[in-house]
Amino acid sequence: MASSHFCLLFLPLLLASIILLNHPVKCEDEDDNLLQGINTYRASLNLTALSKNDNAECLAGQMAAKFKDQPCTNTTGSNTVPGTEPVFSDYPNLLVTCHLNVSNTQDGTIMPACVPGLEPSLVLTNFTETQYSGSLNDTKYTGVGIGSKNNWIVVVLTTNTPTGSFVPATSSPDATSLASRIGSIYHFLFLLMGSIFLLLN
Ligand SMILES: *[C@@H]1O[C@H](CO)[C@@H](O)[C@H](O)[C@H]1NC(C)=O
Ligand SMILES: *[C@@H]1O[C@H](CO)[C@@H](O)[C@H](O)[C@H]1NC(C)=O
Ligand SMILES: *[C@@H]1O[C@H](CO)[C@@H](O)[C@H](O)[C@H]1NC(C)=O
Ligand SMILES: *[C@@H]1O[C@H](CO)[C@@H](O)[C@H](O)[C@H]1NC(C)=O
Ligand SMILES: *[C@@H]1O[C@H](CO)[C@@H](O)[C@H](O)[C@H]1NC(C)=O
Repeated sequence: MASSHFCLLFLPLLLASIILLNHPVKCEDEDDNLLQGINTYRASLNLTALSKNDNAECLAGQMAAKFKDQPCTNTTGSNTVPGTEPVFSDYPNLLVTCHLNVSNTQDGTIMPACVPGLEPSLVLTNFTETQYSGSLNDTKYTGVGIGSKNNWIVVVLTTNTPTGSFVPATSSPDATSLASRIGSIYHFLFLLMGSIFLLLN
């Protein structure tokens, strides 16, 4: 009896929590695909691969979330005329959220692209065959963070100088990913406790 109750109550909750935990991973696939594509592009130009920067990735994710409801047009994303990029009034807050500030990000570059369904080959060419290629082929960039939301994918490039490192002098760079991992564990424990509570009833 107890074990059939257990399956009845626990399995759906377990499945739900696995699905919820896996959700961000699907997004990361697209981001990882693009990172691979960009590094292949750089290798073809004899440039070093860009390494992942956690704070830049955080900022890219925040920017993508800001763009997410804007439709793709011929004046958005990689089609934007340089100098007319949208400015988000809460950009300083996004920096704070990602443990960044103006001093350690000013030499970085933020490149948003809008591609319906984030179709992988179009996503890559929106970076390698547009104005953005001029940044991707620049030797001064050494790091990268990628984030996506809906049809929007944002690449943030970082340098290895203090003014573009995206690394604060103090504070550990992977604080955010650790925080989200701890968040996931709590989420799972919450569901587990919930199902045990139901079971005991
Ligand atoms: C990359 O390096 C190889 C070998 O050094 C050379 O043959 C090739 O032309 C270079 N390609 C570019 C794009 O510079
Ligand atoms: C963008 O699209 C509009 C209509 O959809 C068109 O009138 C305009 O010429 C296009 N602009 C560019 C730069 O392609
Ligand atoms: C960029 O993505 C758009 C879709 O929003 C697509 O129409 C366009 O062809 C892409 N540009 C390049 C150079 O791949
Ligand atoms: C980088 O890309 C830009 C724009 O496509 C191009 O003008 C420039 O010659 C490229 N530089 C290198 C080193 O490939
Ligand atoms: C940015 O952070 C660094 C330390 O990480 C600090 O020294 C600097 O004053 C900050 N700059 C601004 C503009 O807040």
